[in-house]
Amino acid sequence: MSRATDIVILAAGRGTRMRSAKPKVLHPIGGRPMIEHVLEAASELPDARSIVVTGHAAEQLEEALAGREVAFARQTEQRGTADAVTAALSQLREESVVLVLYGDVPLISAATLTRLLATVNADQLGLLTVDLPDPTGYGRIIRNSDSAVIAIVEQKDASPTELAVSEINTGVLAICSEQLATLLPQVGCDNAQREYYLTDLIGLAVAAGITIAVTQPEEPSEVEGVNDRQQLARLERVYQRRQAAALMAAGATLADPARYDQRGAVTVGEDVFIDANVLFEGDNRIGNNVTIGANCHLIDAVIGDNVTVKSHTVIEQSELGDGAVVGPFARLRPGTILASDTKIGNFVETKKAILGRGSKINHLSYVGDAELGEQVNVGAGTITCNYDGVNKHKTVIEDGAFIGSNSALVAPVTIGAGATIGAGSTISRNVQPGKLALTRAKQTEIKGWKKPVKG
Ligand code: UD1
Ligand code: CA
Repeated sequence: MSRATDIVILAAGRGTRMRSAKPKVLHPIGGRPMIEHVLEAASELPDARSIVVTGHAAEQLEEALAGREVAFARQTEQRGTADAVTAALSQLREESVVLVLYGDVPLISAATLTRLLATVNADQLGLLTVDLPDPTGYGRIIRNSDSAVIAIVEQKDASPTELAVSEINTGVLAICSEQLATLLPQVGCDNAQREYYLTDLIGLAVAAGITIAVTQPEEPSEVEGVNDRQQLARLERVYQRRQAAALMAAGATLADPARYDQRGAVTVGEDVFIDANVLFEGDNRIGNNVTIGANCHLIDAVIGDNVTVKSHTVIEQSELGDGAVVGPFARLRPGTILASDTKIGNFVETKKAILGRGSKINHLSYVGDAELGEQVNVGAGTITCNYDGVNKHKTVIEDGAFIGSNSALVAPVTIGAGATIGAGSTISRNVQPGKLALTRAKQTEIKGWKKPVKG
């Protein structure tokens, strides 16, 4: 059927059990608000538009979703799921299929929704159900002796026989807009919760001669909702396991998929090894034959081939060339660009630092706003003094220069190619290529000095 799809996403509820000032659907899964996952699945459907029904903390939610391609409908008072859909009724297109989703059911897949939508026509309503070992709390699917669906009964209104049914209502359904417009006003609130139940639509549709076509999700987790932080944590793990599986399928070995976190995107080449407790955020690209050690945190990192990132390293908005070796305990801040075969060792912090091929900063240094040529060796404890308290200045170290340990390079300053800086120097003027520069107080021994004795 070539009807357009109007997706109504319910998100007006208070989410009391989250105990949060933030609207429930803005709590993150994989670093993104859960409602964005729903919107993403929705965006994969052809010829579809989304209407988010807001109510509790509506402004906050609408603001958070500003700039996305969604319309909003306000439900002023939360009088039930049918009332929530009614709020969006005026925005529905003529002769569309209306798909109802939940902002707090984040892992629904476009594949499942596509199968559901395929069942909908003028004679059929599509309903997504699932069998649960413990159906407590959910609406139960009631079938007649021919096993056709005839109604949904909410937990609070169900008889003992109905409570024994393990097939439950996921809440997700799809129906032609003109049928919805006819049936929705017929929903009343004569039930245990005095609410307008969207689930009453099923009985009303059957009475109007419409068949209920049931679809089930590929995985039950797709239709699990978040009501409290325990469920949020559970779905976070489900989501992370899926991402770990995708990464393994792409050619990465994960030391432990259960200790892998990805909040954003990661692409990998072949033979990438990721040790335990690695966290990726933002957009990360990793080449072939790369090893990422345990407990590393990578944010928007671009990593070439044959790179080793040793444990406890933090890399943010930085690029690592082929064969680079970084860490353990290194911190690469934004703007670090390492050419091939470079080395950054333990307790080294870099920021806006460009290193040419083969250059090394192996121990205990801060190198910021700096440009290093090729084969530069920066000794332990070297600091670029890039900040005068007001402005930032640049340090340039040309090819092959050697910076002795515990040197302070007071920027702006240039160390010429092949120059050597004596250990412990404070360099505030440019050093010419090939020269040795040092600033060092003369070492003396005090004659006649005696060790103090206890009085
Ligand atoms: C609903 C279904 C139930 C199903 C379950 C699946 C009804 C009557 N019951 O029950 O059959 O098994 O979902 O999780 O539909 N909402 C609004 N406005 C309202 C009320 C709710 O926007 O006035 C939104 C909530 O924010 C939430 C969703 O609708 O995202 C579901 O509401 P909730 O109260 O959690 O319904 P359940 O009782 O769980
Ligand atoms: Ca619920």
